[in-house]
Amino acid sequence: MSEKQKTFSIIKPDAVASGKAGKILSLLEESGFRIVALRMTKLSQSQAEGFYAVHRERPFYSSLVKFMTEGPVIVMALEREDAVKKLRDVMGATNPANAAEGTVRKLFAESIERNAIHGSDAPETAAEELKFFFNSVELNQL
Ligand code: CMP
Repeated sequence: MSEKQKTFSIIKPDAVASGKAGKILSLLEESGFRIVALRMTKLSQSQAEGFYAVHRERPFYSSLVKFMTEGPVIVMALEREDAVKKLRDVMGATNPANAAEGTVRKLFAESIERNAIHGSDAPETAAEELKFFFNSVELNQL
């Protein structure tokens, strides 16, 4: 039997504001993810800057930070086998125009920036991003 893996996800401000959070959570559960930890929060400027620091040099960085702080988000720890890759499959391509049918971004994203959901891109990133938002007790609860 393969090992369960955890990954980190954010339902972004566009999807929360348009009332799609419940549908996205359903889709994730139907795709085999267990919700390990979940919290609604509003990112501060410095949290959003820190979280996306890897994109600091990109032309869209300041716009991305502004978007991610414009309203509430839902941060989550998700678990299943091969969670990092499977979540990226369920999310679809960054640009909803290129996302496959039935994916979160095809169904709910507005644009390449306002793209409804974030998911960690590798197991190492998942570990860092989970620690950014959750403590070890929250991540190890049954
Ligand atoms: P995410 O998976 O959270 O990782 C970085 C985010 O930057 C991405 O989703 C989009 O919200 C945003 N992004 C990526 N590429 C672009 C782009 N070309 N223009 C604007 N925003 C982008």
